[in-house]
Formats: sequence, C-alpha cells, structure tokens
Amino acid sequence: MTPPPLTLRPTSELPAETAELLEQLRCESPRGPADDWALAGLTKHLSEGTQGGFLLLGPNDEAICILLDRITPIGHRVSFLMAPGFRSEASTQSALVALDSAPELHPVVGLRVMARSPPPETIAERIELRGFRYFGRVDLELPEGTAFPAQPPGNPLGLRPVQLADTEALARLMRAAYSTDPYDVAIFLERADLLEDARVSVDAILSGKFGPWIPTGSFAQEIEGELRGAVLTVRNDGGLIAELLVDPRSRRVGLGRALLEASVRGLREAGERPVRLVYTRPNRQAESLYVAMGFRPPVPEFVGGDWVNLACIGHPELADELRLTASGGAMGSASHLPAGASE
Ligand SMILES: CC(C)(COP(=O)(O)OP(=O)(O)OC[C@H]1O[C@@H](n2cnc3c(N)ncnc32)[C@H](O)[C@@H]1OP(=O)(O)O)[C@@H](O)C(=O)NCCC(=O)NCCS
Repeated sequence: MTPPPLTLRPTSELPAETAELLEQLRCESPRGPADDWALAGLTKHLSEGTQGGFLLLGPNDEAICILLDRITPIGHRVSFLMAPGFRSEASTQSALVALDSAPELHPVVGLRVMARSPPPETIAERIELRGFRYFGRVDLELPEGTAFPAQPPGNPLGLRPVQLADTEALARLMRAAYSTDPYDVAIFLERADLLEDARVSVDAILSGKFGPWIPTGSFAQEIEGELRGAVLTVRNDGGLIAELLVDPRSRRVGLGRALLEASVRGLREAGERPVRLVYTRPNRQAESLYVAMGFRPPVPEFVGGDWVNLACIGHPELADELRLTASGGAMGSASHLPAGASE
C-alpha cells in the first residue's frame, strides 16, 4: 500500500502543535532514560531555535513527527521522533519519503530514529536502500567483582593526571585520534575546522556538560610537550569514561590499556560506581580492549545509534553493496543492524 504523502513545515519557534506533540511525548509511558535524554535534547534545540526544526503533518494536518535538523559542513544530520499514535512501519516509511523529497534537508549525511517503535529492524531495509548504514551505540559497565590488575611498579609509561591546562593539547590529540575514521567524522563532525570541533568536545567534557569532570580518573601520557594518549572521566550515572584517545603514532604498544586501567583504579578508589563507558560499533580496537578488560553490557542494554549516508563520506561503493543486500541480492543477510538495536 502506498503511504499517504506528508507535509513538511518549519517549526523552529516551537509553535502550538510542536509544544503539544512534545507534551504528548513527555506524558508517554513507559519511558526509559534514552527517551528522556532524546526529548530533553529535542526540546532544548527547538526552543532555542539554534537548529532547524520541522513538523511532518498528515493528510488531516495532524502532527505525525518532529524532525530536528543539524547542519554540518558535510550535510544535514536529521533526527526524527514519531508521535505516539504514528509509530508504525507505514508512518515511518511516509516520513522517509517526505525526507527524500525535501531539498532543504539535502544531502542527509546522518539519520537518527528517536523512538523504540517500530523497532529499527523493521525499517532497516528501507533505510539501507537509501544508502545508509547503521552505527549502534553500546553502553558497557565493569561488573562490580571484576578482578583488576594492580598498578604496575614504577609507572613505566609515564602516565600523569590530566590538568585543565591540558585543554588545547587534548584537543590536538582528539583531532589526531579520530581524523582517520570517516564514520566518526560523519556521526560527530559539527564544524569545518576539525581542531575547533575537538576543542568544543574537550571543553564540553572538562566543563561538566556530561556531568562533573573527575580529575582522579583522568590520565595522560606526555612526550616532549605533546600528549600521546589520554583518558577523561565524568560523573554520570557512576564513573563514565568519556574519552579514551591514543595518537596513531603510539598505538598497539599498550598505552590505551594502561590509560584505561589507571582510570578504572582511580574511579574505584574515588568510590565511583558503576564504572561505565559508551562506544559506537563497529570500533573493533576499542571493543576488543573493553571486552578483554571485563566490560559488559548492562541489563537492560542501552541501545541507540545513527544511520550514516555512505555516499556522503566518500564510500558510495559500500552504499551499492548495501542496496544489493537490502534488495535480497547476492550479498547475504537483509540487514546490517546489530541484534537488538533500537532507540
Ligand atoms: C582504541 C584505542 C584507544 C586503543 O589504543 P592502543 O594504545 O592502540 O591500545 P593497546 O595497545 O593498549 O591495545 C590494547 C588492546 O586493544 C585491542 N586493540 C587495539 N588496537 C587494535 C586493533 N587495531 N585491532 C584489534 N584490536 C586492537 C587489542 O585487544 C589490544 O590487546 P593486544 O595488544 O593484547 O591484542 C586507539 O585505537 C584509539 O585511540 N582509537 C581512536 C579513538 C577511539 O576510538 N577511542 C575509543 C572511543 S570509545
């Protein structure tokens, strides 16, 4: 059945329909922390008018969905939140079609579906057909009883506590650590200047945007005035490892592991429980390090993620591969979505 066409209406100033829809979402039950977080972010952005907002209206002018548009140097990053009565595969399909035919939102480099239903598995194929690939965020915790190596004698890697004076050096390290990964750029890039982008991210952590910064869990390695690795922690539902960064020139010599171990020891000594972190899959080097150290998903798992337009990040051939896969071609399974992923 062809889904009914939807109308897109700009809504940055939070008009009555948007406020009403946000209120409906706020009253919805049951809701989890991920929903609260999504809703708070959406309300903030729409009411501040700092990002573009749109309402999708149905044939009877009913508000079906809120779209939040973040404009980045490589395209639009669009989040959409369906109204409670419209969380069906057909409505989601209509929203995707409306997005396709909205030149003001093109190119769409990233897409985020901010509702648990319909589950992403049921819409994965439709999004993959548009050339997007799913990158899931995974929450891990270190179970309380996990045995942990004692501090090595003599501090062989010369780790030292992070200080506020390290802010600029941390930004340079962050830029170096992430610049090689096009997916990270697609998901997180906000500004054309990557160093400025990194400065804002580091400042957000140290200034407490994600919870108070915990200096006793934050360590760095400095060689000749340059940071080669660092770990940063904040208090957020326990001790959250907010960043783990190793300069590409210093990888695979055990620095990432040593930083993480020092951080966990520092957080445990400070009584921060649980020790947790979030990473975006696939990040195989980080994942194998975390799992080897004993980190495991909490129950229930927090799951969420972004769809990335592969053509926008210079990998159109991967998008073609996805199209073949999604249309039942010779490439194997129908979806690249990790099991259980939803938001
Ligand atoms: C993830 C990262 C911090 C690892 O740092 P590192 O100093 O190279 O890691 P280590 O040398 O301590 O390696 C520890 C373990 O990590 C895993 N690992 C690290 N690099 C890996 C790679 N390229 N492939 C597979 N496993 C890898 C291995 O399990 C390794 O143990 P092993 O050497 O005994 O096999 C580093 O790659 C990095 O900065 N990446 C970019 C930033 C990032 O993704 N941070 C994490 C965000 S959640």
